[in-house]
Amino acid sequence: MESVSLGLSLSLVFLVAGWGPTGMALATHHGPCKQVHRAVDCTGRWQGTVPADLPADTQALSLDHNTIRTLTNASLLQYPHLETLSLRENRLELIEPGAFLSSRDLRNLSLADNALGTNYAVTAAALGSLPALRKLDLSGNHLTEDMVAAMLRNLSSLESLSVARNLIMRLDSSVFEHLGQLQELNLEKNYIYDIEGGTFEGLLGLQRLNLAYNYIPCIVEFGLTQLKTLNASNNVLEWFLSAEGEAVFELETLDLSHNKLLFFPLLPRQSKLHTLLLRDNEVSFYRHLPNATALLDVTVQFLVTEGNTTNITTLSLWEEVSSSNLSSLSFLDMSQNQLWYLPAGFLGRMTSLSHLKLNQNCLETLHIQDREPLGELTDLDLSHNRLGDLQLGLGPLPSLRALNLSANRLRSVPPHTFAHTWITTVDLSHNPLQLCPQQASADGAEDPVCMDLRNIASLRRLDLAGCGLEVVPSRAFSGTPLTHLDLSNNQGALARGPQPLRAIALMLQVLSLRNTGLPPSGEDIDFSGFQNLLSLDLSDNSLTSFPESLSGLSLQTLDLRGNRLPSLPLHALQKQLGRCLSVLYLSQNPFDCCTLEWWDFLHQLRTVNVVDRGQVTCNSSSTLIGAERLPASILQRCRWKTVNMALLYLVLTLPACLTLLVALAVIFLTFKHKLLQLVKSQYRVSSPY
Ligand SMILES: *[C@@H]1O[C@H](CO)[C@@H](O)[C@H](O)[C@H]1NC(C)=O
Ligand SMILES: *[C@@H]1O[C@H](CO)[C@@H](O)[C@H](O)[C@H]1NC(C)=O
Ligand SMILES: *[C@@H]1O[C@H](CO)[C@@H](O)[C@H](O)[C@H]1NC(C)=O
Ligand SMILES: *[C@@H]1O[C@H](CO)[C@@H](O)[C@H](O)[C@H]1NC(C)=O
Ligand SMILES: *[C@@H]1O[C@H](CO)[C@@H](O)[C@H](O)[C@H]1NC(C)=O
Ligand SMILES: *[C@@H]1O[C@H](CO)[C@@H](O)[C@H](O)[C@H]1NC(C)=O
Ligand SMILES: *[C@@H]1O[C@H](CO)[C@@H](O)[C@H](O)[C@H]1NC(C)=O
Ligand SMILES: *[C@@H]1O[C@H](CO)[C@@H](O)[C@H](O)[C@H]1NC(C)=O
Ligand SMILES: *[C@@H]1O[C@H](CO)[C@@H](O)[C@H](O)[C@H]1NC(C)=O
Ligand SMILES: *[C@@H]1O[C@H](CO)[C@@H](O)[C@H](O)[C@H]1NC(C)=O
Repeated sequence: MESVSLGLSLSLVFLVAGWGPTGMALATHHGPCKQVHRAVDCTGRWQGTVPADLPADTQALSLDHNTIRTLTNASLLQYPHLETLSLRENRLELIEPGAFLSSRDLRNLSLADNALGTNYAVTAAALGSLPALRKLDLSGNHLTEDMVAAMLRNLSSLESLSVARNLIMRLDSSVFEHLGQLQELNLEKNYIYDIEGGTFEGLLGLQRLNLAYNYIPCIVEFGLTQLKTLNASNNVLEWFLSAEGEAVFELETLDLSHNKLLFFPLLPRQSKLHTLLLRDNEVSFYRHLPNATALLDVTVQFLVTEGNTTNITTLSLWEEVSSSNLSSLSFLDMSQNQLWYLPAGFLGRMTSLSHLKLNQNCLETLHIQDREPLGELTDLDLSHNRLGDLQLGLGPLPSLRALNLSANRLRSVPPHTFAHTWITTVDLSHNPLQLCPQQASADGAEDPVCMDLRNIASLRRLDLAGCGLEVVPSRAFSGTPLTHLDLSNNQGALARGPQPLRAIALMLQVLSLRNTGLPPSGEDIDFSGFQNLLSLDLSDNSLTSFPESLSGLSLQTLDLRGNRLPSLPLHALQKQLGRCLSVLYLSQNPFDCCTLEWWDFLHQLRTVNVVDRGQVTCNSSSTLIGAERLPASILQRCRWKTVNMALLYLVLTLPACLTLLVALAVIFLTFKHKLLQLVKSQYRVSSPY
């Protein structure tokens, strides 16, 4: 029988393989190397040389993570058809000048993480004989700018070059002089502090330039019109100024995050910019400073020196900022800056904006006016600012889906804010909010100190964690079909149980009631209406017994940490709850070590993952013991405890029983005669004598 089923599964495997992609040829092995088609993989074999016994028609050869020190003239002689060669993470110090003479087809060469700085002049001569090379990776080789320049001298066909993680400090036009075909250049993680004008000018095909993690203090007269992506993140940039003029830039993505920019960058007038990343800078707008009238006409003068000529550029910052056409911008990240307001009309120019991140600034007000057409905006993050209630005017945002207002100073949001949107997600956590006990009146005389969240038909996810809610009024969310609700850390908000949520109970799938002051007795907490709930967090309440109503739910995740539960009821785990549950948190409860049948049952179930298993403890004579491995002595003590209890009962009931027995005997003896007579008289009729 078993052999039959084995045969069946084997043939199944072959069937599946037969249907797989056509390239599923079996790998063959050459010594330590693995070959698939014309690609040979000798990764991580501690090889000190290039293996000589590989097929002569090998096209791709990977020798990563080996210990090769020298690539000799003869190393690659047998493999004239190599197109891709990778020697990452070896100990290469020298490539002999003739090493590549036989590899005329080599297109793709990775020499990352070696020590090619050691004999760079010889290695440069070897690279010079690769005029067809398209892609070269020299990252992590301790190369200075002069070494790089020498190595690139004859590589005019290069399309992609990485010299990341080297020792480059300055760049001028001589370094990349001949790389007219270059499309992608990675200079990440060097020590570049100075880039002379004209350095990249000869690179007419350059589309992607990565300068991240260097020490560049400013970029002025940025004029690489052909560039599509510029990554200058993680430098010390204080200025980014594009060249003046009406030239159309191809620029699509500009990453200036993690710098020291003080002003919004001066962008090209015309570009195709769709992603602008300014996270973690010091950008602010200064026109509204207390005595800023004097600042209105401030101009900034830049001295641009090249050789011994000096040009002075004068910019009037306020005008320039607003003169670029940002109609294609769709993603703008200005988080972690110093913004305390946005100039009027600032967003109005960004007609395609879909994601706007303004979190972690000091915004006190935000007004989006009717004439700022943010019709495409779907995600707006305003978390961690200083927004107060009446200073938030979200104008027409018809496409808005997600609004993050977490950690502000909002006491309410005008009830009509969400009226004409398709908003699905609102995060209002960590605001000093209270919910309105009644529906806000339609005549606009809304209660200014509370927030009405009823009848927002599109809303599905709402976060009200840590708002200091005193109470959740009954029917607080009626007409708002929430599936995800977080009410955690509102101490006392649900002191009367989850009844206020009854209107939306059937919709809810994920509910967090952590630290909401639920009533301690599980009997007072009725979850029977929450039939679609999948995840429930009841941690950090003071539950002293398990809410029985949970046993009929199909929960997948349940969090009971930090309560006062002595045990879980076994029968609850045997019902629907036990069948569906897959993730359970239980730590920080004073479970009783002597009534852990339920714990053993959970183990047997195997379907439940008690995530904090190791931290679950039980209480035995006031000491806490890990429940996972209970010492035998504890079990014995528990057994003794039950035996002792039985003895105690025996001792207590024995005298009573004895007394009763004696009394019965006395009664019997006293009335024995009468009783016998009574019996006799009863049977007299039928007695034969
Ligand atoms: C390797 O080849 C180059 C160029 O053909 C030649 O100059 C050099 O002497 C050779 N090196 C060795 C060690 O044979
Ligand atoms: C170049 O080689 C790397 C691996 O070494 C590979 O991931 C990449 O696809 C290759 N590129 C081309 C154009 O062959
Ligand atoms: C550079 O490449 C050309 C062919 O494009 C070749 O004739 C010349 O010898 C190479 N220079 C060096 C230094 O290898
Ligand atoms: C810029 O480079 C950094 C560092 O490599 C990287 O984390 C970031 O994602 C890059 N930015 C873009 C837009 O690709
Ligand atoms: C504003 O005016 C005060 C008093 O005249 C002065 O001390 C302060 O430097 C001014 N601030 C700016 C930004 O000009
Ligand atoms: C200085 O300005 C002149 C004329 O605008 C321009 O041709 C020249 O390239 C500039 N020089 C520098 C170093 O920017
Ligand atoms: C600098 O100026 C001097 C004289 O004014 C001139 O001879 C020299 O060529 C200039 N150098 C450069 C790099 O322009
Ligand atoms: C901005 O550029 C777009 C095309 O990219 C063009 O349709 C639009 O008219 C320009 N707006 C202004 C104000 O120049
Ligand atoms: C809102 O922002 C906070 C902090 O920036 C973040 O922790 C939270 O996950 C965000 N909320 C949503 C719904 O994305
Ligand atoms: C452990 O149980 C004892 C009684 O057996 C009780 O006094 C003590 O408070 C319990 N400890 C905890 C942490 O609940």
